[in-house]
Amino acid sequence: MAIGTACYLAMLWVRALEKDDVTPKDGNILVTGAAGGVGSVAIAILAKLGYTVAASTGRAETHDYLRALGASEMIDRNTLSEAGKPFQKPRWAGVIDTVGSTTLGNALAQTNYGGAVAACGLAGGADLPTTVLPFILRGVTLAGVDSVFAPMAARQEAWNRMATDLPKDKLADMVEEVPLARVLDPAPQILAGQVRGRVIVDVNA
Ligand SMILES: NC(=O)c1ccc[n+]([C@@H]2O[C@H](COP(=O)([O-])OP(=O)(O)OC[C@H]3O[C@@H](n4cnc5c(N)ncnc54)[C@H](OP(=O)(O)O)[C@@H]3O)[C@@H](O)[C@H]2O)c1
Repeated sequence: MAIGTACYLAMLWVRALEKDDVTPKDGNILVTGAAGGVGSVAIAILAKLGYTVAASTGRAETHDYLRALGASEMIDRNTLSEAGKPFQKPRWAGVIDTVGSTTLGNALAQTNYGGAVAACGLAGGADLPTTVLPFILRGVTLAGVDSVFAPMAARQEAWNRMATDLPKDKLADMVEEVPLARVLDPAPQILAGQVRGRVIVDVNA
């Protein structure tokens, strides 16, 4: 369960970037919602695959943790959640976005020519304020990624890739375990956005 849906989803995202031919030599990858469950594991997988990763987080106290997972640059998430210009200085070869809303709009506006943005999360909102400019002037691709109804072939490929591309030595740092009897304890932390990585419930304890 330390692997769980988060790692599976992160692997589908990495696959989406690769399908759009984004390789480590193309430039840096931005991961938003970096200290969350999916963001954390996406950073670890991308770093293992040789990508240079920038982590967008609102929590400065997670910087050491994110660096240990493989991120080499820290971005203050407030710089992405404020409404920005529709077309900005290009910075990212690819983006893995868990936040949505203005964060995703800014990420699109900052993506390099021919880059790809993989979107699946809405931690910051389900809206998407953007324009067609990144698409028609830079050929940016916005790829939706869904884990629930993904076809079996995509699932099998994602799980197979985990055997080789998931740095399992980093998993312990990304999870906190609680017994079933204390399942409600982390709820306030989750709602306050204070959980680092993921919480596993031990149903036998
Ligand atoms: N499409 C699918 O199949 C699928 C599957 C699983 C999950 N998801 C979605 O993916 C997203 C991430 O899931 P998760 O399990 O990683 O969630 P999570 O552990 O709660 O992490 C979300 C992270 O987003 C950031 N964040 C939270 N509120 C924000 C806000 N208002 N503005 C900007 N950033 C904010 C925080 O990162 P920092 O603390 O680092 O700033 C937080 O840790 C969720 O929206 C979830 O619904 C989709």
